[in-house]
Amino acid sequence: MSTPPDIKHAAQLLRDGGLVAIPTETVYGLAAHALDPLAVARVFAAKGRPKFDPLIVHVPERAELADLVSEFPATAVKLADQFWPGPLTMVLPKRDVVPDIVTAGLSSVAIRIPDHPVAQALLKEAGIPLAAPSANPFGRLSPTTAAHVREQLGDAVDFILDGGPCRVGVESTVVQITGDQVQLLRPGGVTLEELEAVVGSIVIPAPDAHPSSAAQPSPGTLPQHYAPGTPLILTVDDQSPASGKRTGLLCLTAPEDTSAYIAVEELSNTGNLTEAAANFFAAMRRLDAAGLDVIVAQPFPNKGLGRALNDRLTRAATK
Ligand code: TXA
Ligand code: MG
Repeated sequence: MSTPPDIKHAAQLLRDGGLVAIPTETVYGLAAHALDPLAVARVFAAKGRPKFDPLIVHVPERAELADLVSEFPATAVKLADQFWPGPLTMVLPKRDVVPDIVTAGLSSVAIRIPDHPVAQALLKEAGIPLAAPSANPFGRLSPTTAAHVREQLGDAVDFILDGGPCRVGVESTVVQITGDQVQLLRPGGVTLEELEAVVGSIVIPAPDAHPSSAAQPSPGTLPQHYAPGTPLILTVDDQSPASGKRTGLLCLTAPEDTSAYIAVEELSNTGNLTEAAANFFAAMRRLDAAGLDVIVAQPFPNKGLGRALNDRLTRAATK
Protein backbone atom coordinates (compact mmCIF):
# COMPACT_ATOMS: atom_id res chain seq x y z
CA MET A 1 0.00 0.00 0.00
CA SER A 2 1.18 3.49 -0.70
CA THR A 3 2.70 5.64 2.04
CA PRO A 4 2.81 9.44 2.47
CA PRO A 5 6.35 9.56 0.93
CA ASP A 6 5.02 7.60 -2.08
CA ILE A 7 2.31 10.21 -2.53
CA LYS A 8 4.86 13.07 -2.34
CA HIS A 9 7.06 11.29 -4.88
CA ALA A 10 4.12 10.62 -7.23
CA ALA A 11 2.97 14.26 -6.96
CA GLN A 12 6.45 15.48 -7.94
CA LEU A 13 6.63 13.07 -10.89
CA LEU A 14 3.25 14.33 -12.11
CA ARG A 15 4.18 18.00 -11.79
CA ASP A 16 7.32 17.16 -13.83
CA GLY A 17 5.29 15.59 -16.66
CA GLY A 18 5.53 11.93 -15.60
CA LEU A 19 2.93 9.16 -15.69
CA VAL A 20 1.58 7.68 -12.44
CA ALA A 21 -0.99 4.92 -12.06
CA ILE A 22 -3.45 5.90 -9.32
CA PRO A 23 -6.14 4.06 -7.40
CA THR A 24 -9.68 5.44 -7.51
CA GLU A 25 -12.90 3.96 -6.15
CA THR A 26 -13.88 2.79 -9.68
CA VAL A 27 -10.77 1.47 -11.45
CA TYR A 28 -7.08 2.41 -11.52
CA GLY A 29 -6.28 5.46 -13.64
CA LEU A 30 -3.18 6.36 -15.67
CA ALA A 31 -2.63 9.95 -14.57
CA ALA A 32 -0.75 12.88 -16.08
CA HIS A 33 -0.68 16.68 -15.59
CA ALA A 34 -3.90 17.67 -17.37
CA LEU A 35 -2.62 21.11 -18.40
CA ASP A 36 0.67 19.78 -19.87
CA PRO A 37 0.03 18.58 -23.45
CA LEU A 38 3.32 16.63 -23.61
CA ALA A 39 2.51 14.71 -20.43
CA VAL A 40 -0.98 13.95 -21.75
CA ALA A 41 0.51 12.77 -25.06
CA ARG A 42 2.47 10.17 -23.07
CA VAL A 43 -0.81 8.79 -21.70
CA PHE A 44 -2.14 8.21 -25.22
CA ALA A 45 1.16 6.58 -26.25
CA ALA A 46 1.33 4.30 -23.18
CA LYS A 47 -2.24 3.07 -23.72
CA GLY A 48 -2.12 2.92 -27.51
CA ARG A 49 -5.26 5.04 -27.30
CA PRO A 50 -6.58 6.83 -30.41
CA LYS A 51 -6.34 10.60 -30.14
CA PHE A 52 -10.07 11.06 -30.85
CA ASP A 53 -10.93 9.54 -27.44
CA PRO A 54 -10.97 12.32 -24.81
CA LEU A 55 -9.78 11.94 -21.20
CA ILE A 56 -11.42 12.62 -17.83
CA VAL A 57 -9.86 15.40 -15.72
CA HIS A 58 -9.75 14.68 -11.98
CA VAL A 59 -9.79 17.39 -9.30
CA PRO A 60 -9.92 17.07 -5.50
CA GLU A 61 -12.83 19.43 -4.88
CA ARG A 62 -15.36 21.70 -6.54
CA ALA A 63 -13.36 24.86 -5.86
CA GLU A 64 -10.85 23.74 -8.52
CA LEU A 65 -13.51 23.61 -11.24
CA ALA A 66 -13.89 27.30 -12.00
CA ASP A 67 -10.52 27.33 -13.81
CA LEU A 68 -11.47 24.43 -16.07
CA VAL A 69 -15.15 24.82 -17.02
CA SER A 70 -16.97 27.92 -18.26
CA GLU A 71 -20.42 26.88 -17.05
CA PHE A 72 -21.68 24.91 -14.08
CA PRO A 73 -25.47 24.81 -14.51
CA ALA A 74 -27.88 24.28 -11.61
CA THR A 75 -28.38 20.66 -12.74
CA ALA A 76 -24.66 20.03 -12.37
CA VAL A 77 -24.74 21.56 -8.89
CA LYS A 78 -27.52 19.15 -7.88
CA LEU A 79 -25.60 16.16 -9.21
CA ALA A 80 -22.37 17.31 -7.57
CA ASP A 81 -24.14 17.80 -4.22
CA GLN A 82 -25.39 14.23 -4.37
CA PHE A 83 -22.60 12.26 -6.06
CA TRP A 84 -19.24 14.06 -5.60
CA PRO A 85 -16.81 12.85 -4.53
CA GLY A 86 -17.79 9.65 -6.30
CA PRO A 87 -18.16 7.63 -9.51
CA LEU A 88 -19.84 10.33 -11.61
CA THR A 89 -18.15 12.21 -14.48
CA MET A 90 -19.78 15.36 -15.83
CA VAL A 91 -19.05 16.66 -19.33
CA LEU A 92 -19.23 20.47 -19.27
CA PRO A 93 -18.19 23.40 -21.51
CA LYS A 94 -14.41 23.83 -21.17
CA ARG A 95 -12.14 26.83 -20.74
CA ASP A 96 -9.20 27.50 -23.08
CA VAL A 97 -6.66 26.43 -20.46
CA VAL A 98 -7.66 22.77 -20.99
CA PRO A 99 -5.48 21.53 -23.86
CA ASP A 100 -7.14 20.15 -27.01
CA ILE A 101 -5.32 16.84 -26.62
CA VAL A 102 -7.24 16.22 -23.37
CA THR A 103 -10.66 16.76 -24.95
CA ALA A 104 -9.85 15.42 -28.44
CA GLY A 105 -10.61 18.87 -29.77
CA LEU A 106 -14.13 18.98 -28.27
CA SER A 107 -15.38 22.18 -26.67
CA SER A 108 -16.34 20.23 -23.54
CA VAL A 109 -14.28 18.60 -20.80
CA ALA A 110 -15.13 15.58 -18.63
CA ILE A 111 -14.63 16.22 -14.90
CA ARG A 112 -14.62 13.90 -11.92
CA ILE A 113 -13.91 14.22 -8.18
CA PRO A 114 -12.82 10.74 -7.10
CA ASP A 115 -13.77 9.24 -3.76
CA HIS A 116 -10.59 7.44 -2.78
CA PRO A 117 -8.29 8.55 0.03
CA VAL A 118 -5.09 7.99 -2.00
CA ALA A 119 -6.43 9.79 -5.07
CA GLN A 120 -7.63 12.65 -2.88
CA ALA A 121 -4.29 12.94 -1.05
CA LEU A 122 -2.39 12.85 -4.34
CA LEU A 123 -4.55 15.48 -6.04
CA LYS A 124 -4.17 17.81 -3.06
CA GLU A 125 -0.41 17.23 -2.81
CA ALA A 126 0.16 17.65 -6.57
CA GLY A 127 -1.89 20.86 -6.77
CA ILE A 128 -2.67 20.24 -10.46
CA PRO A 129 -5.66 18.64 -12.22
CA LEU A 130 -4.92 15.11 -13.43
CA ALA A 131 -6.06 13.67 -16.75
CA ALA A 132 -6.57 9.95 -16.20
CA PRO A 133 -8.12 7.27 -18.37
CA SER A 134 -8.38 3.74 -17.02
CA ALA A 135 -4.85 2.29 -16.70
CA ASN A 136 -5.17 -0.48 -19.29
CA PRO A 137 -4.01 -0.83 -22.89
CA PHE A 138 -6.74 0.61 -25.13
CA GLY A 139 -9.73 -1.70 -25.53
CA ARG A 140 -8.63 -4.23 -22.89
CA LEU A 141 -9.87 -5.06 -19.39
CA SER A 142 -9.79 -2.23 -16.85
CA PRO A 143 -7.50 -2.71 -13.81
CA THR A 144 -8.94 -2.89 -10.31
CA THR A 145 -5.68 -3.65 -8.45
CA ALA A 146 -2.13 -2.29 -8.64
CA ALA A 147 -0.98 -5.76 -9.79
CA HIS A 148 -3.31 -5.56 -12.81
CA VAL A 149 -1.67 -2.28 -13.81
CA ARG A 150 1.82 -3.76 -13.37
CA GLU A 151 0.94 -6.76 -15.58
CA GLN A 152 -0.52 -4.67 -18.38
CA LEU A 153 1.38 -1.39 -18.38
CA GLY A 154 4.34 -1.97 -16.02
CA ASP A 155 7.19 -0.47 -18.05
CA ALA A 156 5.15 2.35 -19.52
CA VAL A 157 4.44 4.05 -16.17
CA ASP A 158 6.89 5.97 -14.00
CA PHE A 159 5.24 4.91 -10.74
CA ILE A 160 2.28 2.90 -9.48
CA LEU A 161 0.47 4.01 -6.32
CA ASP A 162 -1.11 1.03 -4.60
CA GLY A 163 -4.43 1.84 -2.95
CA GLY A 164 -5.72 -1.72 -2.67
CA PRO A 165 -8.57 -3.22 -4.70
CA CYS A 166 -11.10 -0.70 -6.10
CA ARG A 167 -14.33 -0.55 -4.12
CA VAL A 168 -16.80 0.04 -6.99
CA GLY A 169 -15.07 -1.97 -9.71
CA VAL A 170 -16.63 -0.42 -12.83
CA GLU A 171 -15.81 2.97 -14.33
CA SER A 172 -17.65 6.16 -13.49
CA THR A 173 -20.99 7.04 -15.05
CA VAL A 174 -20.41 9.73 -17.71
CA VAL A 175 -23.14 12.33 -18.27
CA GLN A 176 -23.19 15.34 -20.55
CA ILE A 177 -24.81 18.41 -19.01
CA THR A 178 -26.40 20.90 -21.39
CA GLY A 179 -28.41 23.48 -19.45
CA ASP A 180 -31.00 21.42 -17.59
CA GLN A 181 -30.64 18.39 -19.87
CA VAL A 182 -28.65 15.37 -18.68
CA GLN A 183 -27.55 12.82 -21.25
CA LEU A 184 -26.12 9.45 -20.24
CA LEU A 185 -22.95 8.78 -22.25
CA ARG A 186 -21.69 5.77 -20.29
CA PRO A 187 -23.45 3.75 -17.57
CA GLY A 188 -21.19 3.26 -14.55
CA GLY A 189 -20.84 3.38 -10.79
CA VAL A 190 -23.75 5.80 -10.23
CA THR A 191 -26.91 4.07 -11.46
CA LEU A 192 -29.56 5.50 -13.77
CA GLU A 193 -32.12 5.14 -10.97
CA GLU A 194 -29.91 7.21 -8.64
CA LEU A 195 -29.46 9.93 -11.29
CA GLU A 196 -33.18 10.05 -12.05
CA ALA A 197 -34.00 10.44 -8.38
CA VAL A 198 -31.99 13.69 -8.38
CA VAL A 199 -32.65 15.28 -11.78
CA GLY A 200 -35.74 13.57 -13.16
CA SER A 201 -35.56 12.19 -16.66
CA ILE A 202 -32.24 11.38 -18.33
CA VAL A 203 -31.66 11.30 -22.08
CA ILE A 204 -30.31 7.94 -23.20
CA PRO A 205 -28.91 7.95 -26.74
CA ALA A 206 -30.05 5.01 -28.92
CA PRO A 207 -27.31 2.36 -29.20
CA ASP A 208 -26.90 2.86 -32.94
CA ALA A 209 -26.60 6.61 -32.47
CA HIS A 210 -22.92 5.76 -31.76
CA PRO A 211 -21.16 4.95 -35.02
CA SER A 212 -17.56 3.88 -34.35
CA SER A 213 -16.11 7.16 -35.47
CA ALA A 214 -14.88 10.40 -34.01
CA ALA A 215 -18.28 12.00 -34.62
CA GLN A 216 -20.11 10.22 -31.80
CA PRO A 217 -21.08 12.07 -28.60
CA SER A 218 -18.68 10.09 -26.39
CA PRO A 219 -15.92 8.82 -28.64
CA GLY A 220 -14.55 6.38 -26.07
CA THR A 221 -17.73 4.33 -26.03
CA LEU A 222 -16.72 2.21 -29.00
CA PRO A 223 -18.66 -1.03 -29.63
CA GLN A 224 -15.58 -3.20 -28.97
CA HIS A 225 -13.99 -2.40 -25.62
CA TYR A 226 -13.13 -3.91 -22.21
CA ALA A 227 -12.25 -7.15 -23.99
CA PRO A 228 -10.39 -10.20 -22.70
CA GLY A 229 -8.05 -11.98 -25.15
CA THR A 230 -10.24 -15.12 -25.02
CA PRO A 231 -13.39 -15.02 -27.19
CA LEU A 232 -16.42 -14.14 -25.06
CA ILE A 233 -20.02 -14.91 -25.94
CA LEU A 234 -23.19 -13.75 -24.23
CA THR A 235 -25.64 -16.49 -23.50
CA VAL A 236 -29.22 -16.96 -22.42
CA ASP A 237 -29.99 -18.78 -19.20
CA ASP A 238 -29.61 -22.53 -19.65
CA GLN A 239 -27.89 -22.70 -23.00
CA SER A 240 -25.25 -25.44 -22.76
CA PRO A 241 -21.70 -24.66 -23.85
CA ALA A 242 -20.32 -25.83 -27.20
CA SER A 243 -19.05 -29.39 -26.82
CA GLY A 244 -15.37 -30.15 -27.22
CA LYS A 245 -14.38 -26.62 -26.24
CA ARG A 246 -12.65 -25.60 -23.05
CA THR A 247 -15.36 -23.29 -21.75
CA GLY A 248 -15.47 -20.93 -18.78
CA LEU A 249 -18.56 -19.32 -17.25
CA LEU A 250 -18.99 -15.78 -15.94
CA CYS A 251 -22.26 -15.36 -14.03
CA LEU A 252 -23.93 -13.44 -11.23
CA THR A 253 -24.94 -16.61 -9.38
CA ALA A 254 -23.84 -20.06 -10.52
CA PRO A 255 -26.36 -22.51 -12.02
CA GLU A 256 -26.86 -25.84 -10.24
CA ASP A 257 -24.97 -27.87 -12.82
CA THR A 258 -21.61 -26.41 -13.81
CA SER A 259 -20.02 -29.68 -14.92
CA ALA A 260 -19.72 -28.48 -18.52
CA TYR A 261 -17.37 -25.67 -17.51
CA ILE A 262 -13.67 -25.85 -16.77
CA ALA A 263 -13.79 -22.64 -14.77
CA VAL A 264 -16.70 -20.79 -13.17
CA GLU A 265 -16.65 -17.22 -11.87
CA GLU A 266 -19.68 -16.51 -9.72
CA LEU A 267 -19.66 -12.77 -9.02
CA SER A 268 -22.02 -12.80 -6.02
CA ASN A 269 -23.57 -15.88 -4.47
CA THR A 270 -26.38 -13.71 -3.09
CA GLY A 271 -27.01 -12.03 -6.46
CA ASN A 272 -25.84 -8.67 -5.15
CA LEU A 273 -24.94 -6.34 -8.06
CA THR A 274 -22.67 -4.11 -5.95
CA GLU A 275 -20.59 -7.12 -4.99
CA ALA A 276 -20.68 -8.36 -8.59
CA ALA A 277 -19.36 -5.04 -9.93
CA ALA A 278 -16.48 -5.07 -7.44
CA ASN A 279 -15.49 -8.57 -8.64
CA PHE A 280 -16.21 -8.15 -12.34
CA PHE A 281 -12.89 -7.19 -13.98
CA ALA A 282 -10.75 -9.41 -11.73
CA ALA A 283 -13.01 -12.39 -12.53
CA MET A 284 -12.77 -11.67 -16.27
CA ARG A 285 -8.99 -11.60 -15.92
CA ARG A 286 -8.88 -14.96 -14.13
CA LEU A 287 -11.01 -16.53 -16.86
CA ASP A 288 -8.80 -14.94 -19.50
CA ALA A 289 -5.73 -16.50 -17.85
CA ALA A 290 -7.29 -19.98 -17.55
CA GLY A 291 -6.33 -21.18 -21.04
CA LEU A 292 -9.93 -21.42 -22.23
CA ASP A 293 -11.21 -21.62 -25.81
CA VAL A 294 -14.23 -19.52 -24.97
CA ILE A 295 -15.82 -17.59 -22.10
CA VAL A 296 -19.59 -17.78 -21.81
CA ALA A 297 -21.16 -14.88 -19.92
CA GLN A 298 -24.69 -14.60 -18.59
CA PRO A 299 -26.26 -11.13 -18.83
CA PHE A 300 -27.06 -9.34 -15.55
CA PRO A 301 -30.51 -8.08 -14.52
CA ASN A 302 -30.84 -4.80 -16.43
CA LYS A 303 -31.24 -2.51 -13.42
CA GLY A 304 -28.94 -0.65 -11.05
CA LEU A 305 -25.29 -1.57 -11.55
CA GLY A 306 -26.44 -4.42 -13.81
CA ARG A 307 -26.74 -1.85 -16.63
CA ALA A 308 -23.06 -0.87 -16.37
CA LEU A 309 -22.05 -4.54 -16.19
CA ASN A 310 -24.18 -5.46 -19.24
CA ASP A 311 -22.64 -2.54 -21.11
CA ARG A 312 -19.12 -3.87 -20.39
CA LEU A 313 -20.15 -7.43 -21.29
CA THR A 314 -21.71 -6.39 -24.58
CA ARG A 315 -18.56 -4.52 -25.54
CA ALA A 316 -16.36 -7.42 -24.46
CA ALA A 317 -18.37 -9.94 -26.50
CA THR A 318 -16.81 -11.30 -29.66
CA LYS A 319 -18.60 -9.79 -32.64
O1 TXA B 1 -13.98 5.69 -13.45
C1 TXA B 1 -13.45 6.30 -14.39
O2 TXA B 1 -14.10 7.11 -15.08
C2 TXA B 1 -11.99 6.01 -14.69
C3 TXA B 1 -11.15 6.52 -13.49
C4 TXA B 1 -9.67 6.41 -13.73
O3 TXA B 1 -11.52 7.85 -13.19
N1 TXA B 1 -11.58 6.64 -15.91
C5 TXA B 1 -12.03 6.22 -17.11
O4 TXA B 1 -11.51 6.90 -18.18
O5 TXA B 1 -12.80 5.29 -17.26
P1 TXA B 1 -11.62 6.43 -19.68
O6 TXA B 1 -10.71 7.29 -20.45
O7 TXA B 1 -11.36 4.97 -19.76
O8 TXA B 1 -13.08 6.77 -20.10
C6 TXA B 1 -13.45 8.13 -20.30
C7 TXA B 1 -14.80 8.22 -20.96
C8 TXA B 1 -14.72 7.81 -22.41
O9 TXA B 1 -15.89 7.09 -22.74
C9 TXA B 1 -14.68 9.16 -23.13
O10 TXA B 1 -15.12 9.11 -24.44
C10 TXA B 1 -15.58 9.99 -22.23
O11 TXA B 1 -15.27 9.57 -20.92
N2 TXA B 1 -15.28 11.43 -22.37
C11 TXA B 1 -14.21 12.09 -21.92
N3 TXA B 1 -14.27 13.40 -22.26
C12 TXA B 1 -15.41 13.56 -22.95
C13 TXA B 1 -16.05 14.68 -23.58
N4 TXA B 1 -15.50 15.90 -23.57
N5 TXA B 1 -17.23 14.47 -24.20
C14 TXA B 1 -17.79 13.25 -24.21
N6 TXA B 1 -17.24 12.15 -23.64
C15 TXA B 1 -16.07 12.30 -23.02
MG1 MG C 1 -11.19 2.96 -20.23
